[in-house]
Amino acid sequence: METVLITGSNRGLGLEWARQYAEAGWRVLATCRRPEQAESLTRLARRHPGVSIHRLDVTLPKQVEALAGELAGERLDLLVNNAGVYFERWGRDRLGQIDYPAWMETFSVNTLGAFRVTEALLPCLVRSEKALVVNISSHMGSIADIQAPNDYAYRSSKAALNAASRGLAHELAARGIGLLLLHPGWVRTRMGGESAPLSVQESVHGMREIVQRFDLDQSGHFYRYDGVELPW
Ligand SMILES: NC(=O)c1ccc[n+]([C@@H]2O[C@H](COP(=O)([O-])OP(=O)(O)OC[C@H]3O[C@@H](n4cnc5c(N)ncnc54)[C@H](OP(=O)(O)O)[C@@H]3O)[C@@H](O)[C@H]2O)c1
Repeated sequence: METVLITGSNRGLGLEWARQYAEAGWRVLATCRRPEQAESLTRLARRHPGVSIHRLDVTLPKQVEALAGELAGERLDLLVNNAGVYFERWGRDRLGQIDYPAWMETFSVNTLGAFRVTEALLPCLVRSEKALVVNISSHMGSIADIQAPNDYAYRSSKAALNAASRGLAHELAARGIGLLLLHPGWVRTRMGGESAPLSVQESVHGMREIVQRFDLDQSGHFYRYDGVELPW
């Protein structure tokens, strides 16, 4: 049985990653900040004995270390660094109104969080013959895509995730571990809003196909959920 660990899996895309891998018969280590409030995830775990729920705020080193300790000696085939935040409101993060603490928090979750978790779980990943780290990015992290003065914090956090992950892919490849940067598309979640065109099912289905077809030659590349490669 293959094992996947997902961050931020109590709602939105993370919950759907957990649901689809649970239904595919994988062992799912579903992490979230507040397991006691994760009702949908708890229902999923009741239906699928392969799903276990673990507490993890990706910004808290002690929680990351505790989880790595709990999983010591185990094998991890797939790590989905999905947890993310988007604090800006459209049109409000202009000069004179920039919320610097929120920008720092955005970096802490979206950029450092993925690294912190990957670094801590490396001993589990190296135990897999075909380990893969998926860092959930966004087309908004594509510098080539920026055509409007907005979303400074979110865009820069995902651009930094892309840049750092591209380098990390080389370090991981030397240990036989792959890395992908994936843009889920614009998806109906709390972050994406109700007018987004894509459902979580379509987005995660597409991303899982990319994962399934993954070859180490693709490591460090940046793809949209439908397989189109995106510009940096
Ligand atoms: N939806 C879109 O259109 C879209 C487009 C491009 C990229 N993305 C990316 O896709 C990923 C998932 O987004 P989503 O749309 O599913 O968003 P969402 O519905 O807002 O869910 C975000 C998830 O991240 C978790 N999270 C936030 N801060 C965390 C922390 N410090 N530690 C652990 N978990 C934390 C949240 O947990 P709580 O419930 O505890 O807050 C929640 O589970 C994000 O990385 C996002 O940037 C989404």
